[in-house]
Parts: sequence; structure tokens; C-alpha cells
Amino acid sequence: MGLPIWRALVFLSLFANQLNSQDPNTDASHLSNFFNQMSTSSPKPHTFSSLCSSPGVVCDRQKQNILHLSAPGSNLSGPIPDNTIGKLIKLQSLDLSGNKITSLPSDLWSLDSLQHLNLSSNLISHPLPSNVGNFVSLRTLDLSFNAFSGEIPASISSVVALTTLNLNNNAFRSVLPPGLLNCRALVSIDLSSNRLTGSLPVGFGSAFPELKRLNLSRNLFQGSVDGVLRGNVETVDLSDNRFDGHVLHLITGHKHNLSSLTHLDLSENGFVGHILNGLSSAQKLGHLNLASNRFRVQEFPQITKLSALYYLNLSRTNLVGFIPSEISRLSLLKVLDLSSNNLTGNVPLLLPLENIEVLDLSLNKLDGDIPRTVLEKLSLTRRFNFSFNNLTFCDPNFTQEMIQTSFVGLTNNCPFAAKPVVQKGESVSKKKTGLKIGLTLAISMAFLLVALLVVLVALRGRRKSRTWATKQAAEPNLLLDQGESTDVPVVMIDKPLMKMTLADLKAATLNFDSGALLWESKSGPTYEAVLPGGFRAALKVVSSGTTLSDHEASLTFERLARINHPNLVPLSGYCIAAEQRIVIYEHLDYVNLHTLFHTTDESVSWILRHKIALGTARALAFLHHGCIPPVVHGEVKAGTIFLDTSQEPQLAEFGLAKLLNEGLLCDLDGYTPTELEEHGSPTLESDVYSFGVVLLELVSGKKAEWDLVSWVRGLVREGQGSRAIDPTLQGTGPVEQIAEAVKIGYLCTADLSWKRPTMQQVVGLLKDISPS
Ligand SMILES: *[C@@H]1O[C@H](CO)[C@@H](O)[C@H](O)[C@H]1NC(C)=O
Ligand SMILES: *[C@@H]1O[C@H](CO)[C@@H](O)[C@H](O)[C@H]1NC(C)=O
Ligand SMILES: *[C@@H]1O[C@H](CO)[C@@H](O)[C@H](O)[C@H]1NC(C)=O
Ligand SMILES: *[C@@H]1O[C@H](CO)[C@@H](O)[C@H](O)[C@H]1NC(C)=O
Ligand SMILES: *[C@@H]1O[C@H](CO)[C@@H](O)[C@H](O)[C@H]1NC(C)=O
Ligand SMILES: *[C@@H]1O[C@H](CO)[C@@H](O)[C@H](O)[C@H]1NC(C)=O
Ligand SMILES: *[C@@H]1O[C@H](CO)[C@@H](O)[C@H](O)[C@H]1NC(C)=O
Ligand SMILES: *[C@@H]1O[C@H](CO)[C@@H](O)[C@H](O)[C@H]1NC(C)=O
Ligand SMILES: *[C@@H]1O[C@H](CO)[C@@H](O)[C@H](O)[C@H]1NC(C)=O
Repeated sequence: MGLPIWRALVFLSLFANQLNSQDPNTDASHLSNFFNQMSTSSPKPHTFSSLCSSPGVVCDRQKQNILHLSAPGSNLSGPIPDNTIGKLIKLQSLDLSGNKITSLPSDLWSLDSLQHLNLSSNLISHPLPSNVGNFVSLRTLDLSFNAFSGEIPASISSVVALTTLNLNNNAFRSVLPPGLLNCRALVSIDLSSNRLTGSLPVGFGSAFPELKRLNLSRNLFQGSVDGVLRGNVETVDLSDNRFDGHVLHLITGHKHNLSSLTHLDLSENGFVGHILNGLSSAQKLGHLNLASNRFRVQEFPQITKLSALYYLNLSRTNLVGFIPSEISRLSLLKVLDLSSNNLTGNVPLLLPLENIEVLDLSLNKLDGDIPRTVLEKLSLTRRFNFSFNNLTFCDPNFTQEMIQTSFVGLTNNCPFAAKPVVQKGESVSKKKTGLKIGLTLAISMAFLLVALLVVLVALRGRRKSRTWATKQAAEPNLLLDQGESTDVPVVMIDKPLMKMTLADLKAATLNFDSGALLWESKSGPTYEAVLPGGFRAALKVVSSGTTLSDHEASLTFERLARINHPNLVPLSGYCIAAEQRIVIYEHLDYVNLHTLFHTTDESVSWILRHKIALGTARALAFLHHGCIPPVVHGEVKAGTIFLDTSQEPQLAEFGLAKLLNEGLLCDLDGYTPTELEEHGSPTLESDVYSFGVVLLELVSGKKAEWDLVSWVRGLVREGQGSRAIDPTLQGTGPVEQIAEAVKIGYLCTADLSWKRPTMQQVVGLLKDISPS
């Protein structure tokens, strides 16, 4: 802008002063008087060809009269004297905003050509005279940020051309004049931050057909605001008043298309009724604040289709019940405040946290564990608060200060298993190097074995009517049928950036085609898949009809994902698609014991068998004694124990039993103790039994047919235990050691569950017979 306008004008006024005596009634002399009397600084000389080319001044064609005068922020102070601005009779627009003007001259109101008047941000403190009604051409009136007092004059009803009325941040008091409703051209009304009281004039909501912006915030208005949500309205801020009408009255009539609405703030009032479900047409709504009203006790409103929301504040709105998981559709949310309600249930796993800056769930009745997916994103937020709920959480990364301010009253329940983060990193990288070395070998071997296994599974599938392979054959589209749910997201625990949906899992397995089947077990089939990004996965589909809710299932997965042990196959991710719970493991081309022992003729040395038994026992001991609460594996058997390329055993599929219907695991497959036939759910003791069976398989080289256990136990009772030893073991280790292992298997398979040793004791016993 270069030269400050007031300096140019003051200089001009000096120049004009010479004319002043000759012709005191020109616009030039009025203007010079104005600046002379209002400016606080002395001018610096500049040359100008004419008044009309100075900045901020626009004259008419004849260069006689000033049409537009704009001098914002020009250090003008004090009262505007008569016979200055008020004499610029052709003036159409006047902008003196951002000065220190303290009062207006009485002749200002005679400027009946004025269309735009901006006196915003001055120090004017007298009442607005009713002469304002003279401004019949006025379209913009901005008196905001002054100290205007008294009432808004009734004569405002004459200013019928008005489109913008900004009277905000003044000291206007009393009620709104009903005559305001005459100004039907109004597009923008801002009366916020005054001391206005009473009800709005009857018909206010429908008086302004062109209205786009309405701000009545921070006054003392009461009553209702009937029908204001209509037509083209874009921004409505009624916050911080005493409105106490029914919230439904904001929308009247049935044809309310709110497709223009972007901002709605009703907070801090006494609105009653139900939170509007009628907002569903407000597809552009970005900011919605309904906080602190007297709404009825109600469930979470149906607003999750408002996908443009970036600010949602439902604090103190009497919400009860669950936070719906569909809230994840609000992916643009930056601020989510649900504090001070009576919300129950769990924190949804898929809170919309992509863009979140402020998250406040404090002072509710939420319970359960804060999902890890949620905790992980919190470092990106500016502020979050879970205080005063019945929640537990585990994140080793939070500082004490954060815990003391944002998790007040919560339980930090990090299980032991979650702590050794470092150990996990090491073991993973070790595994990876080993993997590279043995990869080629392993892959070719695995292919062969998988082929064998598929044949085996097919044979078994014919026999067992309850297995999945047959279900799949009978209903090939079981998973595809839930067509609409293919956009269900997949949660990848250590790869939060890997965005996938159920559709990707389907694509990667050719819709869970039997050709991609790796193996199957009681808890469901496992498929091979190469996921986007080249991630090779084994996808386990846990059988449907489970008794756990989606919330409970996801919390179970979150907990399992935290468990890290060198002899456990870690859970990499999961997907909860209606009835289907899909668990994702890294697929490492490992060979399972069943395949190794029963479908190949390779002889396996005692040293390796002992290593497998000990590693597996360690993994189980960790699940049983290293995790709080203890994790029951539920499906210990040769088919879930895999050998990695460094021939370390890797126990897979732990903890899934919890997800299954009772009874599903009670197949008599040789690994299940009889006590489970009565009351279905696996226990720590049944895990010990199953481990014992595996141990007997290892020492005998025989399959765990249901008579293996009674055969070996019979031999041991007769003192003939060494007869159970696999003949091919001969010469690979001391017979006494192997016979000792038979005894351990005997102990583990005791009929009475309380007679069985704990897994910790089993680890001790196996270590004692260490071959090395
Ligand atoms: C306004 O006047 C004050 C002194 O009254 C001076 O310090 C300030 O620099 C002036 N501002 C402008 C923009 O000229
Ligand atoms: C009045 O002037 C202020 C400050 O220059 C500006 O921010 C505001 O937008 C103007 N009002 C109108 C209605 O144009
Ligand atoms: C309404 O006015 C208040 C106070 O002047 C202000 O804080 C708020 O941002 C305004 N609302 C909108 C939507 O502009
Ligand atoms: C609402 O109005 C917009 C445009 O004004 C239109 O595109 C939209 O289809 C309307 N919606 C309904 C439900 O009438
Ligand atoms: C939600 O609205 C309430 C009431 O107006 C306010 O106190 C609170 O700060 C708002 N929350 C956020 C996160 O903006
Ligand atoms: C929550 O419910 C209790 C009664 O169970 C009630 O006293 C309290 O006011 C409710 N709080 C909110 C914020 O609705
Ligand atoms: C803790 O911090 C580490 C390192 O920054 C990160 O890898 C890990 O994901 C964090 N854990 C959680 C639960 O956020
Ligand atoms: C908190 O949660 C625990 C376990 O989920 C439950 O036993 C307890 O009753 C809950 N407490 C309250 C006050 O709701
Ligand atoms: C979280 O909410 C509680 C209860 O309102 C409050 O005492 C605490 O200061 C809040 N913490 C943060 C970080 O805002």
C-alpha cells in the first residue's frame, strides 16, 4: 500500500486549505477539516495531482464529489465533528474501521446515498440514534467491536435494503425490535456478544429468505428459534444464550433441505428434546456443537452419515449407550468431544483418528481396555482425555504427566507380556535373517508339504462333517455374501499405515478359495495370501456364530497382539466383518509338526524333538504365567506347532479358543481331555493335557489318535514306558532321557486335571533332561 492514506489526505487537506476560504462547501474542504481534526500525527508533504486520485478516495465523474471513502486503521481519534464527513452528500461507502473514533456527528445520518458503512473496531459508546432509519439505501452496516449501548432502534425497520448487519461485540441491550423483520434482504446477521435479552420477534426464523449467516451467540436470548434451519442457511451460531425451546422447532415443515449448512452451534443453551435426526440432509455440515443443553436422555444420534464433519461436540448432551462403531466414518474429524455424558461400553476400536487433534471422552461410563489402535494415534493429537471412566489401558510410552492429566482414575494394566518391546525387535530381526538363508529351501519344501496337506485335509473333510472345508464347499460364497461389508477395515498392528479392507483379503485369497487353503483346524481354516505391499500372510477365519461381541473380539485380538515370545507366532492383524473374525499372521513357510512327523519319512533326532518340546512348553508357560490375565491357548496340537528355519518351534493360533462357541473345540481328536466333553471351554489344565499328547507324539512318533494316550499310560503304569519310544530315535539320544520324557507326557495327561503339572513345572522337568 505504500503511503498511509491518512498522510496523503492530510497533505491534501493542507493543499485544500488554500481553497477553503474561497469555497468552504466543497467535499475537499469537508474532508480536509475531517482529517485536520481527527489526525494525531503531523503530515509529511507529498504531491498529488488531485484529491480524487489519492488512495482510499473515489470521486464521481465530474471530480466534484466523493463517492467512496476508505480510511481503515488510520490513527483517527476522538469524536467526528459536524460539517465534515456528514457533508459529503454523495457518499456511498464509508469505511473508518479500526480507528479510535469515540462518537458520531449528528449530520452523518443525512447521508441518504450511503450503501456501506463500516465503523467496526472503534471506541463509540453512545446509543445508536434512531436516525439510522434514514439510511434507506444502506446495504452493509458494520458497527461491530465498539461500545454502542442502549437498544437497537426500532427504526432499523426502514433500512430495508440491508444485507449485512454486524452489531456484534457491543453493549446493546434489551429485546430485538420486531421491525428488524422488515429487512427481508438480510443475508448475514451478527448480533453476537451483546446483552440482548428476551425472545426473538415472532416469525424471526422465516423472515429472511436470503439468510446465510446468523450469529446470536453470547447474549441472553431465551425462548425458541423457530424454523431458522432452512433454505440457503450456511452458518448458525446460537451458542451461549438461554434458548429453551424444543430443538425440533429449529426445523419446521417437512421440506428441509439443509444442503448448504456448514456450521451449527447450539451449545450452552437449554434446548430440550431429541438431538436432531433431521440433520441428515446437511451433507456439508463441518462444525456441529450441541454441547451443554437439556436434551432428553438418548442414545448416540444418527449423525455418522455427516461425513464432512471436522468438529463434533456432544459434551453434556445426556447421551447414554454405546459409541457406535460407525463413528469411524467421520474420517475428517479434528475435534471430537463426547465428555460428560453417560456413555457405556467400550472405546470403539476404529475411532476416526486420522486427522484428530482433540479427543475428549472424559467423564463417561466407558469400560474395558482402550484399544491399542487408539492409543497409538494419540501422539498425533494436541489434546486427549479419557479421565473418569472405568477404562484400562496399556501404553508404555505415556509420560507420568500425561497419565496424571489425561487418564485420571483409569487403571494401567500393562500385562507383563507387553513390556519386552526390545526383545520382540531382536527376535524378529533374528528370525528374518534366518529366514533369508533358508528361504529357498523352505519354500520348495513347504510347497510340497502344503500340497500333501491339502490332500490330507480334503480326505479329512470328507470324514468330518463339521469342518470348514466342507462348509465352504457347500456354501462357496459364505464370505462373499456379505457384499456390502467388504469395506470393513483391516487392522494391522505394527503396520498402521497399511490400509486394507476385507475386499483386499478376499482378493488375496481369490475369495477364500480352497486353492489358497493352507490348513484347517477346529477353530477354522487358514488361507495363504499375499497382501498389498507384498506382505505374505496366513489368514485364519475364525468360525462364525461366536458368542463374543465385535467389541470383545477386537479387544481380545488387541490383547493377543501384545503378546510377544520367541516361540509364539505373533498376531499381525485382524478384521472383524460381521460374524467373521479374520486373524492375520505373517506367513513364514514354516512346517508344522503334524506334517513333519506324519507325512514324511524323515527321521527326526532326539535333540530336535526335545528342542521342540521345550520351546513349546516355554511358549505355553509364558501364556499361562507370563500374561495377566493368563491366556489359554485352547488348541495345542502338532498342527499348530511350526518349525522355523532355525528349527525353533513356533506355537501358532494361541488364544483363539475364547472366540469360539463352547463345544466347538470338543471334537475327540486325541488332544482333548475328557473333562472338556462336559463343559466345553478349554482351560489351563486342558492345555497341559494337549501338550502332554504332543510330547507323547514326539517320543513315540505315533499320531495322536485317541488311543495313543491310553496306550502309553498303560505301558508306563506297567513300568514298560520305554516301549513307547519311537524306534527311529535309537542312537540319537540316551534312552533314559527319552523314557523320562515319556513320564512327563504321562504326568501331563493325567485324567484328573488338578493332578497335571503346571506348564512352568513342565519347563523345569524338560530342562532337567536336556540332552546337551
Ligand atoms: C498512530 O499514532 C501513534 C501516536 O499517536 C503512532 O505512534 C503510530 O505510529 C501511528 N500509527 C500509524 C499507523 O501511523
Ligand atoms: C469492516 O472493516 C473491518 C476491518 O477493516 C473488516 O474486517 C470487515 O470485514 C468490514 N466489514 C464489512 C461488512 O465489510
Ligand atoms: C459468533 O460470534 C462469536 C462471538 O462474537 C464468535 O466467537 C463466533 O466465532 C461466531 N460464530 C461464527 C460461526 O462465526
Ligand atoms: C438439496 O438441494 C441441493 C441443491 O440445492 C440438491 O442438489 C439436493 O439434491 C437437494 N436434496 C434433497 C434431499 O432434496
Ligand atoms: C465443547 O463445547 C463445550 C461447551 O460449549 C465447551 O466448553 C468445550 O470446550 C467444547 N469442547 C471442545 C473440544 O471444543
Ligand atoms: C448420568 O447418570 C446419572 C444417574 O445414573 C445421573 O445422575 C447423571 O446426571 C448423568 N450424567 C449425565 C451427564 O447425564
Ligand atoms: C511406543 O513408541 C515406540 C517407539 O516410538 C513405537 O514403535 C511404539 O509403537 C509405541 N507404542 C505404542 C503402543 O504406541
Ligand atoms: C468397572 O469394570 C469392571 C470390569 O470391567 C467391573 O467389574 C466394575 O464393576 C466396573 N465398575 C464400575 C463402577 O462400573
Ligand atoms: C481431563 O478431564 C478431567 C475431568 O474433566 C480434568 O480434570 C482434566 O484436567 C482433563 N485433562 C486434560 C488434559 O484436559
